[in-house]
Amino acid sequence: MPTLTYLGHSAFLLQSEQAALAIDPFLSGNPKATIGPDDLKVQYVLVSHGHGDHVGDAIQIAKANRATIVAPYELALYCQRQDCQVHPMHIGGSFQFPFGRVKLTIAHHGSMTPDGGYGGNPCGFLVTMEGKTLYHTGDTGLFYDMKLIGELTPIHVALLPIGDNFTMGIDDAVKAVELLQPRLAIPMHYDTFDMIQANPEDFVRRVRVAGYVGKVLPVGASHAF
Ligand code: NI
Ligand code: MN
Repeated sequence: MPTLTYLGHSAFLLQSEQAALAIDPFLSGNPKATIGPDDLKVQYVLVSHGHGDHVGDAIQIAKANRATIVAPYELALYCQRQDCQVHPMHIGGSFQFPFGRVKLTIAHHGSMTPDGGYGGNPCGFLVTMEGKTLYHTGDTGLFYDMKLIGELTPIHVALLPIGDNFTMGIDDAVKAVELLQPRLAIPMHYDTFDMIQANPEDFVRRVRVAGYVGKVLPVGASHAF
């Protein structure tokens, strides 16, 4: 059974029998993080786009663990230039890794590499392992193709930004749940900075009113699915 652990902001640890993956591991600069990059033992690091609050400590973690960074092509090349092992992908593409399948989705957002270079397009990640699918949307606004994503791939857990300003706020994140129809929706990308204050319990309550299940995962808490 895959286990998801919240590391704060949009950072998660996803573990199965086969592997451990870090997603958008923003830890050392993250005021909400309770662990540091040295505490993570992973084989893969997934990075949705080049913004600092998502690349975070990915380079350091990948090097320390000899882990492979999975990212959109242009961002993967940046990581490769920092002497990391990479597996470049792009939107719409999927690949069968030893631990399971990863598919990249669109994300309506921006991207640039940490050195200010071209970061390509941002993405979201569908990760299927042990028959269960996690959808980490990355940073994105609401988009109607979420309906198609949910139809093509039944989603067990959807991780949705609710902080507004840079991404969806709660109104749009609730609509995203209606489009994706996940078994469980977990909020992310809130309260890390002043500009993205949001009440995650309000999101969960409204998800319930819409007929779905939401859950706030406190930083450091895990959820097996
Ligand atoms: Ni961003
Ligand atoms: Mn962000």
